[in-house]
Amino acid sequence: KEVDIDPAAYDAGEHDSFMHKEMLEQPARAEAVLRGRLDERFGTGHLGGLNLDARELRAIRRVKILGCGSAYYVGEMGASLIEELARVPADAEPASEFRYRNPIIEPDTLYVAVSQSGETIDTLLAVQEVRRKGGRVIGLVNVVGSAIAREVDGGIYLHAGPEVAVASTKALTNMYLAFAMLAIQLGRVRDLSIADGRRLIAGLTALPGQIEQVLATEPQLALVAHRLAEAESLFFVGRVRGFPVAREGAQKFKEISYRHAEAYQTSELKHGPLALISPQVPTVAIVPDDELVERNVAALEQIAARGGPLVVVTHEGVDLGDAAAKADRIDVPRSERELDPILLTIPLQVLAYHAALSLGHDIDKPRNLAKSVTVE
Ligand code: AGP
Repeated sequence: KEVDIDPAAYDAGEHDSFMHKEMLEQPARAEAVLRGRLDERFGTGHLGGLNLDARELRAIRRVKILGCGSAYYVGEMGASLIEELARVPADAEPASEFRYRNPIIEPDTLYVAVSQSGETIDTLLAVQEVRRKGGRVIGLVNVVGSAIAREVDGGIYLHAGPEVAVASTKALTNMYLAFAMLAIQLGRVRDLSIADGRRLIAGLTALPGQIEQVLATEPQLALVAHRLAEAESLFFVGRVRGFPVAREGAQKFKEISYRHAEAYQTSELKHGPLALISPQVPTVAIVPDDELVERNVAALEQIAARGGPLVVVTHEGVDLGDAAAKADRIDVPRSERELDPILLTIPLQVLAYHAALSLGHDIDKPRNLAKSVTVE
């Protein structure tokens, strides 16, 4: 079945590409996914489509997230939100691998399929594998009525609107927000306090405006992107919450700039990749102002000492130490610490977009890639 989206059927308006249009739509689309789903009074999410009552939510002992490509990376962000806020063991796995390893399906595990298109064959077949073995699976899906949406036991529609560019942006942001609401709701039937629930709901409410603030820095990001585009190879590094951000940043960059962009845990640099750092190999480092900031800054210094150009995505006020002089610094607004990943991700989209633009690539239809991979 041919489900690939036809750009001719849509209008990019004044934008040079759908990717640009879709990035700038994020504040409005983020509001759309949150609308009607935040319960400020009880500090929880209100996700009716899950088809799970409080007792069923409490009975969940594990969460397994399945998706492909960027949907898998956002799944990793979602797993860490769920572990942190609900203290339920959670992990993400590429749907394409999961279904080939005869997975053990447990009755008290909640399976979560994540897909913009709802048509990705690997994710669809993973859902069918879970259901065939009696597991319960919900979907985080953008396209209403798509194959995955029809196959799951419940879920959260992403309300991102049609996404045309192969490089996914607004759908990913809404996946993240859906995971945040799910994690808060799962947390609130466990040990997440009402105060923390309210704090996080307020944090979520502020995010669309903060995403807008990040997007407003596009002119500065474009200058940084032009420099990055000159490198044949670059690293994206982050730790814990920041690592899936780095993975998604590298994915976006390689998809449309065709540069070799490799993600690594910052903590692992000294176990191998540091050997590749040189003035020709820039590193984009994710350094939020969190419990790991000092260790992250120490790693930046190691990179700078080897002459590696640095782009640091961080928060205002973070002292980058000796690396500061050699780094391009990108500050994003502070959110609630648990929600940091999404605001750290947005500049990486803009960097990838401007790098590809400066290289003269087809932004919306990168070579060798389709919007939805619907055949094996
Ligand atoms: C994202 O920029 C990619 N084009 C790709 O990794 C995508 O996220 C993946 O193919 C999954 O697509 P889906 O969300 O439609 O299932």
